[in-house]
Amino acid sequence: MARRDEKIWIIGGSSGIGLALAEAYARRGAHVLISGRKAEALDEAVVNIGANATGAVADVVDLESLNAAAKAHGPFDRVINAAAIYDPSPVLKADQKKAEAIYEVNLVGSFNAARVGASHLRKGGQLALFGSAAAIFGLPQGQVYSSTKAAIVNLAQSLRVELAPEVDVRLITPGFVKTPLTDMNNFQMPGIMEPEEAARRIIAGLDGKAFDIAFPRRLIWPLRLLSALPKPLAFALTSRLKQ
Ligand SMILES: NC(=O)c1ccc[n+]([C@@H]2O[C@H](COP(=O)([O-])OP(=O)(O)OC[C@H]3O[C@@H](n4cnc5c(N)ncnc54)[C@H](OP(=O)(O)O)[C@@H]3O)[C@@H](O)[C@H]2O)c1
Repeated sequence: MARRDEKIWIIGGSSGIGLALAEAYARRGAHVLISGRKAEALDEAVVNIGANATGAVADVVDLESLNAAAKAHGPFDRVINAAAIYDPSPVLKADQKKAEAIYEVNLVGSFNAARVGASHLRKGGQLALFGSAAAIFGLPQGQVYSSTKAAIVNLAQSLRVELAPEVDVRLITPGFVKTPLTDMNNFQMPGIMEPEEAARRIIAGLDGKAFDIAFPRRLIWPLRLLSALPKPLAFALTSRLKQ
């Protein structure tokens, strides 16, 4: 059973799933530190969450700011990195600067958050990284974002063994969740859920034993099946998604 008075750092906790996690953990008695780049969004979230929340401006690509937040507020029982950015586009039309920023924030940011987080966890503490259902098999239009998420899966698998038993490393693999990130999508998102429901599933998963907290099954299993198919068949199926 998880302690109720834990200290939890949610990186990217000012919006979407990170914010819903912060709200839910605070409701059950945890003290949450939420961080992100925008002070105003953090201040608003802290006021809404109430006495159990603190905010710290920190950018996952700026190690100094991450370390400063960790030193000022740690040690933690859990560190969850939800920070990511997204900008879907066909590969040849993708904005080079935005694409590089996605690699930087999502991938380098996860590496930074993992190293800083792991160094400021109590013994036996938990480090959770966000992958995505988009990491299971590469789909047209998603290349930049989904390749960062596939790399994060690999990073989490490596760290799971490398940092054990001092750190309990987990991977979170959500399907579609209604947040400012998915508001950019112009297609129907099967199984889309509210951030509060995603947070409920993530918290239950992090209290349990599974390494990969993946949901909803109706999206995850077809994607896992797709990735197990012979590639010519898998590509024939995904070519139908090309816009
Ligand atoms: N929504 C989905 O359907 C879905 C599905 C699968 C996986 N995920 C993953 O779930 C996580 C949360 O996504 P979301 O949908 O909740 O996104 P969101 O609502 O856009 O929230 C992203 C959070 O990350 C922060 N952030 C962005 N860049 C940052 C940086 N450089 N340094 C620090 N913080 C930064 C944002 O705050 P600032 O802008 O103020 O920095 C914000 O708090 C992400 O890892 C995403 O890839 C989401």
